[in-house]
Amino acid sequence: MHAIRPLPDQLINQIAAGEVVERPAAALKELLENSLDAGATQIDIDLAGGGVKLIRVADDGMGIDREDLVFAVARHATSKISSASDLEAIGTLGFRGEALASIAAVSRLALTSRSRTKPHAWRIEVDGGEVGAPQPAALASGTTVTVQELYFNTPARRKFLRTDATEFGHCEEAFRRIALSHPDTGFTMQHNASVRYRLLAQGRRARVDALLGDEFAAQAAYVDEHGPGLSLAGWVVRPAYATSARDAQYLFVNGRFVRDRVLAHALREAYRDVLHHERQPAYALWLTIEPRIVDVNVHPAKAEVRFRDSGAVHQFVRHAVEKSLASTAAEQPAVSASERLGVAAARVPPSRRAFTPGCSVTGCRCSTKLSEPSEPMDPTCPTLAIIRSASLWRSCMESSCSLKTATGWCWSTCMPRTNASSTSVSRPRLTARCRCSRCWCR
Ligand SMILES: Nc1ncnc2c1ncn2[C@@H]1O[C@H](COP(=O)(O)OP(=O)(O)OP(=O)(O)O)[C@@H](O)[C@H]1O
Ligand SMILES: [Mg+2]
Repeated sequence: MHAIRPLPDQLINQIAAGEVVERPAAALKELLENSLDAGATQIDIDLAGGGVKLIRVADDGMGIDREDLVFAVARHATSKISSASDLEAIGTLGFRGEALASIAAVSRLALTSRSRTKPHAWRIEVDGGEVGAPQPAALASGTTVTVQELYFNTPARRKFLRTDATEFGHCEEAFRRIALSHPDTGFTMQHNASVRYRLLAQGRRARVDALLGDEFAAQAAYVDEHGPGLSLAGWVVRPAYATSARDAQYLFVNGRFVRDRVLAHALREAYRDVLHHERQPAYALWLTIEPRIVDVNVHPAKAEVRFRDSGAVHQFVRHAVEKSLASTAAEQPAVSASERLGVAAARVPPSRRAFTPGCSVTGCRCSTKLSEPSEPMDPTCPTLAIIRSASLWRSCMESSCSLKTATGWCWSTCMPRTNASSTSVSRPRLTARCRCSRCWCR
């Protein structure tokens, strides 16, 4: 065994960079968070080669004084907290004082900044962790950080990078999360000199429309719930819009995108009665919570949080989303009787729903209908009412359904092939080709 010795600072930073700067998208996220913490109202991003070759983030925030530039790129140096008690109520996105040092340890970084009260800007360069002296520079306002040749001095890490297109895709997702979480900030983003996003400072709804698209916007139900020490606002989509991908699930806790198991479970529970278990809901939700009852210091990349009373937060979120989904169902425009029945059926326990094999509706080969004498079945769309309930799918005994519409599989005329004991349901795909006027998949 060799003698134990302290590691050189540069190596410590490179090790830390492994956690904090996993890939270019992680570096971009850290730089954007710094700009937001600095109160930027406009942030311009310039990427090249998927962010590996270049990441430049320019903001109009408060800037950094000349004498602080060296600390900005030093490890464990931050302006955001100063004592242990600050850790108990973190109000900024960053607080660990290690992002810039980590990025600078594995790239060629230049930090140019002009403090609002100063006559001109200063620039500091860090080459693979080697810090240069601050030099006078020209910059109208704010801070510009340029990161070039990420991982140029850590070939092992470089090997794990994917193609430029894939890395850009990750950068784009990091950007979308930040841009959604802070709609009141304007953004531009270009990649390889072509402009990809130009977002004005706007309200949440406009930002959601711009980033999540018309379909999400058209299907979204508003959530607005307030409780003691916390509130939830945003949009959740109606169950029919759910897809099998998790690509539109945005949940922000105090302006920070998080993937949290408690919150994810609360959302799944809220959708449980109205969504098949293989489908994924889409949502953009902002949870605002008293900083003292949430700990954000639980993950090196600050991607997780821990709630002091996770049960109460779970219940609050679940209730808020359930309430919103229920009100959407009530607001459905011009639905048929069978559709209404479907909503009702989806909300009662399976044992209270009765099915009779051998549907007699002319033209229907699905052979299943609700035995609810007071609710007439719609002869053209006999199964629509029951299809939206995951538990009903599992209850269906029909195994020979083969109806198709002229334009493709359609929920409204085709029952799934399934059997009572199977949980893996072969479900007809919702298709954009569906022409059925009543079908909720449209
Ligand atoms: N764009 C910026 N505008 C103004 N100040 C900045 C900017 N970027 C960094 N700083 C300053 O540099 C310091 C170090 O930044 P760094 O990202 O390394 O740490 P942090 O944001 O404090 O914590 P974390 O490591 O959690 O991000 C910040 O505390 C801040 O004072
Ligand atoms: Mg930071």
